[in-house]
Amino acid sequence: MSAASDYLQDPDKGLMLWPTQASVGAGQVDLLNFALLGVCALITLIVLGLVLYFSIRYRRGSKARRAPLISEHREHRWELATAGLMLVLFMGLFVWGVKVYVDMYQGPADALTIKVVGKQWMWKLQHPDGTREINTLHVPTGRDIKLDITSQDVIHSFYVPAFRLKRDAVPGAHRSAWFHATEPGEYRLFCAEYCGTDHSRMRGRVVVMTPANYQAWLARDGSARQAGPSINKGKALFSSYGCAGCHRGKTAVRAPSLAGIYGRPVPLANGDTVIADEGYLRDSVLQPQKQVVGGYTPIMPSFAGRISEADLQQIIAYIKSLEPGDWAQEEADR
Ligand code: CUA
Repeated sequence: MSAASDYLQDPDKGLMLWPTQASVGAGQVDLLNFALLGVCALITLIVLGLVLYFSIRYRRGSKARRAPLISEHREHRWELATAGLMLVLFMGLFVWGVKVYVDMYQGPADALTIKVVGKQWMWKLQHPDGTREINTLHVPTGRDIKLDITSQDVIHSFYVPAFRLKRDAVPGAHRSAWFHATEPGEYRLFCAEYCGTDHSRMRGRVVVMTPANYQAWLARDGSARQAGPSINKGKALFSSYGCAGCHRGKTAVRAPSLAGIYGRPVPLANGDTVIADEGYLRDSVLQPQKQVVGGYTPIMPSFAGRISEADLQQIIAYIKSLEPGDWAQEEADR
């Protein structure tokens, strides 16, 4: 199934005009949307009707009266009535919209807070107990979930249509949004702000579970969660394989620093630029001469045959977890 049809089609429901409603408040948003659509349709119909009516009534050759209207006492009833009605109607819609908006963005105080960091090109998520995930967010039903959203590079936007939730992730700012999922299931997560080459691939999912399943998921240690242990193991391996000797901080051997490299463009010696995705990191360990970083000499030995797949995965998980400023202190100390 292609990405586009993914969005509009639910395998169980066929073509959908409206995404599933899977949160408290989703119905409110839809209702307001329908009301706005209804008002627009009504006004369009009235204007269209008048256009038709006048074109027929004043068509060429009709006997309709065309002389200017001269009236002794001008009446304002129609103008006042129309203006008054519009004022009431649109102020009503405005107040209604404000209420839905405030309800959406001012969450309840005792919500479960999830930290959300957007970066090119992934969503990093962290649960209150420290469990980390990338691009997949597990949450329980029946609880208010608050999102603390920021970005570490450009503006992204956290968008879950099924929850009618969209909030920009802005570098240097923390924005919050909240939702209360009602139905266990999987819902699509998008980035809704153009953020560079792989914007369209910056997608993920929200997995809504029953509270019991969520607790079980949190307690479980497995590949489904990008938790501390795997990253910590990777960190130890990063040292034991000797990567840290060249790649960490300012060292005698000049090698590119890896802090925050994941997902970023890397200029190569041959003038090309590649994105440091998982494949690139893997290739750089196993075939370091394949894509040499611009400004560096190709002195790194290949680790093909010297590192197990499991170890490689841990090291990549560790490199992926690094933030741009992670080694700044020790780099400055040297
Ligand atoms: Cu991130 Cu678009």
